[in-house]
Amino acid sequence: MIAEKSAFRSVEEVLRQIEEAAQREFLPIVGPNKGRILAEEVRKAKPRHVLEVGTLIGYSAILMGKELDENAEIVTIEIHRDEVQIAGENVVKANIPPKVTIITGDALEVIPTLNGPFDFAFIDADKSEYFQYLRLAEDKSHKGTVVVADNAGIFADQMSDYLDYVRNSGRYRSRYVQVGDDGMEISVKL
Ligand SMILES: C[S@@+](CC[C@H](N)C(=O)[O-])C[C@H]1O[C@@H](n2cnc3c(N)ncnc32)[C@H](O)[C@@H]1O
Repeated sequence: MIAEKSAFRSVEEVLRQIEEAAQREFLPIVGPNKGRILAEEVRKAKPRHVLEVGTLIGYSAILMGKELDENAEIVTIEIHRDEVQIAGENVVKANIPPKVTIITGDALEVIPTLNGPFDFAFIDADKSEYFQYLRLAEDKSHKGTVVVADNAGIFADQMSDYLDYVRNSGRYRSRYVQVGDDGMEISVKL
């Protein structure tokens, strides 16, 4: 009981520290408001295998991992080596239950090398590449896989091919959730 309480406090502290650093350094983390929606989707889906595209310094990976147990695994991809280094340190500090694997590389090259299936994906990297990430990950997903795409409000134009596909291809049930001046597209594979 004591161990659980102290682990919980430490993960919250790490998240607050990253939020403060993000404010100072203008880092585009998903943040606490959209983060609440993301965490709620993870809680509902209870995924064992999570794919994240766009780690930055680990905020959203920690936020998702906080909702999961030690049977879960998060694979997260980041193109910049410096961010991977900091993300790794933050993940260790947060001490979340799931195993977290941070892969350095371009998601367009890394996704095809991954073993699926993934039960949940969070897409938050290059906005004009969302559609390609999704298509590359599609054979590693299954009926019921939940895909959350960040910035579907402010960057809707850059990701119009993605949004058109999840909303109109008949392969997903998709909805847009507005949060402040931005939003997330939440799509469930049919
Ligand atoms: C918006 S930030 C991610 C924020 C993070 N998900 C969070 O909420 O804490 C986008 C990240 O995607 C990375 N990125 C951009 N294009 C990428 C690509 N093709 N492959 C992997 N990472 C990429 C950027 O370097 C950046 O760190």
